[in-house]
Amino acid sequence: MDIEDRAQAYAEADFLDVNETFVDRLAELADFSRPALAVDLGTGPADIALMVASRASRWRAIGIDMSLPMLHIGQGRRRESKIQNASLILADAKSCPFPDATFDVVYSNSLLHHVASPDGLWREIRRIAKPGATIFVRDLFRPHDADAAYRIVEQYAPFEHALLKEDFYNSLLAAYTAAEVRAQLEASGLGHLTIRIVTDRHMDIFGTIRGA
Ligand SMILES: C[S@@+](CC[C@H](N)C(=O)[O-])C[C@H]1O[C@@H](n2cnc3c(N)ncnc32)[C@H](O)[C@@H]1O
Repeated sequence: MDIEDRAQAYAEADFLDVNETFVDRLAELADFSRPALAVDLGTGPADIALMVASRASRWRAIGIDMSLPMLHIGQGRRRESKIQNASLILADAKSCPFPDATFDVVYSNSLLHHVASPDGLWREIRRIAKPGATIFVRDLFRPHDADAAYRIVEQYAPFEHALLKEDFYNSLLAAYTAAEVRAQLEASGLGHLTIRIVTDRHMDIFGTIRGA
């Protein structure tokens, strides 16, 4: 099984509720009614970026992902949706092709646990965000042990594709704890952001960039 199979398995899974919950929370943190430039780091099949662009019609949403198969899937969905205020770029979220202080909103769902040196990601988020920008990062947090990870997979994804279940299990074990994320934020000049455990497997990291 190669990376294209995994991208396809991920893109075919039904994350509608999860994505809507994410976008609802983003709408609480940032104003969808005012013009804004937003970036979705690790956009994957771009479902969230397209949902954001559709609900926040005055925003421009740029999704970036470093996986070409994922980006191809996202580009197909963008074309089908006919949404005009979203675009997708192949890029590494740790070294984005954007000048300093570009974005009013920087958000990400389920990227952090993919990044082996997360301080670099947090520093890049700080660099590309404007003073006063909204930051919203949601990710899994690591369960106590492998048995707990297995139970979470069986509880929330019992009938999913085997590749997806395997990725979910590995993602849970690769995820950071809230304490580890707190240390990453302190090391990256983002120690003022809030970390909140929001479900039995997710945490939110959010706040604004200082200096507005
Ligand atoms: C679990 S998927 C989440 C996709 C999307 N955010 C969502 O919620 O549906 C993680 C995505 O992050 C991408 N990714 C991993 N490391 C990355 C990096 N350093 N820069 C950009 N994208 C990355 C992967 O290619 C994958 O598409």
